[in-house]
Amino acid sequence: MSEIAKFELDGKTYEFPVIEGTENEKAIDISTLRGKSGYITIDPGFKNTGSTQSAITFLDGEEGILRYRGYPIEQLAEQASFTEVAYLLIYGELPSQEKLASFQNSITKHTLVHEDMKQFFEAYPAKAHPMGVLASMVCSLSTFYPESLDPNRSPESKDTTIHRLIAKLPTLAAWSYKNAIRHPFMYPKNDLDYCSNFMHMMFAMPTEEYQIDPVVSSALNKLLILHADHEQNCSTATTRIVGSSQVNLYAAIAAGITALWGPLHGGANQAVIEMLEKIDADGGDVDKWVLKAKDKDDSFRLMGFGHRVYKNFDPRATIIKKACDDILEKMGIEDPLLDIAKKLEKVALEDDYFIARNLYPNVDFYSGIIYRALGIPTEMFTVMFAIGRLPGWIAQWKEMIEGGEPIGRPRQVYTGATKRDYVPLSKR
Ligand code: CMC
Repeated sequence: MSEIAKFELDGKTYEFPVIEGTENEKAIDISTLRGKSGYITIDPGFKNTGSTQSAITFLDGEEGILRYRGYPIEQLAEQASFTEVAYLLIYGELPSQEKLASFQNSITKHTLVHEDMKQFFEAYPAKAHPMGVLASMVCSLSTFYPESLDPNRSPESKDTTIHRLIAKLPTLAAWSYKNAIRHPFMYPKNDLDYCSNFMHMMFAMPTEEYQIDPVVSSALNKLLILHADHEQNCSTATTRIVGSSQVNLYAAIAAGITALWGPLHGGANQAVIEMLEKIDADGGDVDKWVLKAKDKDDSFRLMGFGHRVYKNFDPRATIIKKACDDILEKMGIEDPLLDIAKKLEKVALEDDYFIARNLYPNVDFYSGIIYRALGIPTEMFTVMFAIGRLPGWIAQWKEMIEGGEPIGRPRQVYTGATKRDYVPLSKR
């Protein structure tokens, strides 16, 4: 017999079913509340509201657990390839060797973008932020593939759109960088794996051979896996809610990209490096900056610290911190910002303010240092996050579309003026 939650309102008792997930997470299903009582619930920032039931990612913020389709993030980051994880997230199971080969083959086939799109890049100013360019370009893909406009057209059409998007995102991302530095675009090389191909399009030049460093490709593979999904975060919830209007996948993902861009979400990786550079330029006194972060009259926050759901530690940050040390050592790089980051982490973790609020380094705290070591420019960091998050957004969109979820449409409590009569302009 399932549990029942009882609410008392205006002297009446209302009953609502309690639903339980496979990891024993419990929720009160209040979907009939307004119909029964006339009340709605209010929860700004959705801090306590589940928007969906999902079988993709399990996250326990108190225990620091993250699993994709049941598989621990630690195992996937260590052993899997990014395309394998993308398949797992989107189709629900680890692929067999044949299925993975066919998936990778399909992605490889679609890596080119339409030649006409090159003109779009050229129209952007060199200083254009690559996230703005990326979101626009992804939405523009819908204009080249009109068959994608109906997201329910057929399973085959849906798969083609998904594969196209996974294939083209690195090309669009790398070209947004090449355009910013006014270098010639490099076409994809389809004999390379996903990560190596991206590095080739970012850093190769038509005039010389570019050697792919396997340490770099493998570091990138790990970073992309760590970012691949994170259940109902700001950009994923955005992608689902935009997609729930039955708009095409490209438009829904473009919305996800713009949501990711903000410094409180994916934009934090850029903000962390900018913060570390500022601290460095200011003489490296981390205590001073920790004090600033604690000062309620100062808007400064320690970027890369804190998380809406992780209240113990972010398992992705633990993996990234170790990867950061390994990669810098393997590449023989000494980065003064890494020393500042470590000092800052130590001071903050011992400080009562941060302890009391459960503020720990998150995934973005160390990822920027790795991206720097790989030669990725700071403005591209959030683009890297978007490439990693794409399979998660797609998986969540697919689950929402195939589950027939209703259009996302929250309610509100109106607090504006009550009815009043219009006063003609001449009388005001
Ligand atoms: N530095 C200083 N104080 C902080 C910080 C921080 N980074 N983060 C939270 N706080 C304080 C905040 O001032 C508040 O204090 P009080 O209770 O005294 O008012 C308390 O901690 C709770 O913070 P909140 O803003 O209510 O928490 P939230 O769950 O709404 O916000 C967050 C989560 C990630 C937006 C926030 O911690 C933050 O702004 N962090 C810095 C930006 C960042 O690193 N974002 C990346 C998140 S991980 C990547 C991703 O998945 O998006």
